[in-house]
Amino acid sequence: MNAWMRIERALDRCCPQGANPLSHLGAIACLMFALLLLSGIYLYVFFDTSVGGAWASVERLSAQPPGSWLRSLHRYAADLFLLSVWLHLLREAVLGRYTRFRRLSWLTGLVLLPLVYLSGVGGFWLAWDQLGQYSAIASAELLDALPLFPTSLSRNFLTPEAVNDRLFSLLIFVHLGVPLLMLFALWFHLQRITRPQLWPPRALALALLSCLGVLALARPILSLPPADLGSVPAALPLDWWLLHWLPLAEAWGPALTWAVMGAMLLLLLLLPLRSQAPPPVAVVDADNCNGCQRCVADCPYAAITLEPHPNGKAGRQIAVVAADRCASCGICAGSCPSATPFRSTELLVSGIDMPQQTIAALRRQLETALADHTEPAIVVYGCEHGADLGRVTAPGLIALSLLCIGQMPPAFVEYALRAGAAGVLIVGCPSGGCAFRWGEALTAQRLNGQREPHLRANVPKTRWQMLQAGAGEEARVSAAALQLLRRLRLPPQGRQHAGDLPA
Ligand code: HEM
Ligand code: SF4
Ligand code: SF4
Repeated sequence: MNAWMRIERALDRCCPQGANPLSHLGAIACLMFALLLLSGIYLYVFFDTSVGGAWASVERLSAQPPGSWLRSLHRYAADLFLLSVWLHLLREAVLGRYTRFRRLSWLTGLVLLPLVYLSGVGGFWLAWDQLGQYSAIASAELLDALPLFPTSLSRNFLTPEAVNDRLFSLLIFVHLGVPLLMLFALWFHLQRITRPQLWPPRALALALLSCLGVLALARPILSLPPADLGSVPAALPLDWWLLHWLPLAEAWGPALTWAVMGAMLLLLLLLPLRSQAPPPVAVVDADNCNGCQRCVADCPYAAITLEPHPNGKAGRQIAVVAADRCASCGICAGSCPSATPFRSTELLVSGIDMPQQTIAALRRQLETALADHTEPAIVVYGCEHGADLGRVTAPGLIALSLLCIGQMPPAFVEYALRAGAAGVLIVGCPSGGCAFRWGEALTAQRLNGQREPHLRANVPKTRWQMLQAGAGEEARVSAAALQLLRRLRLPPQGRQHAGDLPA
């Protein structure tokens, strides 16, 4: 387990269930983006778009609530936006989530990053106070170092007369137009992602919004004196978080600053080229696929489409997997109605399956392990990205590790109980921590009868339990297995036998 995951698991213990901010960074960025758009619309209504009136209009707006509060909220949301985007990038980088089926998300994320900075810096220009003056001139000087424009941009700020309403409209256009570009880039960013999590869980969203709201009240953002191109402002209270490139450019010079920024971007752009052996791709069996669409709905990376079935029957469809998008997670195998271990065929072939770990092999493994057990056994289904089942210790334990917990067809719970297991423990990763996004959540829905294929309602709830435990939390799995075993052994009325299951 790497350091990031250790921090994330430690934070899990401090946060209400599912509300760990580190597991929802993309969603936090989306929430901040939405907050910026909404608060920005309000501010714009009262904003005077002329160079002569901008500063005064912002002052008027900041003089009383709700304008003063919304202005501060807008700034703090921008801070949190940038922070969550950087942490989101760092998390994906540290967890190696930038190659193959994630390449498009990674590269489009890298397009979003400079846009986030650009719209952030642009916000300071509009207040047209001394900080706005500084940020506009420093940005222009930085851009002048690139062979992009025929004339020098910073010349536009040499005299007070040079900044006219036309130039100011251009500054406004950057601050308003860039977020629109970001919306477009975000759409691409989420193209290969099924049901992207756009909003954090409610508890987390409320906590973040409340913190920002209180901060905006406690530490309102105020303008500096109006911009005056005839003078150079002395010491400025800089917003280092949003504007750090500008003072760095002053200290290092534009050429070195661009070189550092370019090198960083190049490094991030090259990351997806790191070679990784492609993992096995899900395989569809034409004879067992009836085109029910469940795998299409559950695949987290939109890798499956339906096409006309090769058997030529009218209206019949078959699942087709796009190899370059397949994450090899097996969630589709867990969703297929033909993947039930109760099928009497000697060779269990499912509509869609993972070549490296088939459903038939899982059934064989389970049957062999149960046959070898004389003591009441607890079957633990887990995932190779979560708690390491090899390190889980409990008497009579049968541990079956899957590619993702979403690979487990729910009928395997009932099958294990009927085949002699005393109880079944299903271990998924903590909410938001699934390596394939939805494995744990889909499994919980299937087991609770909220999603097809579902676990039959007559399987006694006392005999199985679902637990969220990530890598490093093996002790919790051991404790839960032991507890389940003790509960099931309670004499006399609490005792359950395999034969107790209704037909
Ligand atoms: C405006 C900035 C950004 C926003 C709003 C954003 C938002 C999101 C959202 C909502 C998701 C889907 C999360 C899920 O449902 O699992 C996502 C996924 C992803 N993002 Fe971003 N993102 C941004 C920037 C970036 C950046 C800068 C990078 C890295 C260069 C990045 C890399 C990724 C990757 C690799 C995924 C796929 C994660 C996975 O497959 O599990 N994103 N992003
Ligand atoms: S293995 Fe995962 S990514 Fe590949 S097709 Fe199945 S559900 Fe989709
Ligand atoms: S879930 Fe199974 S039967 Fe349904 S479309 Fe997918 S492969 Fe075919």
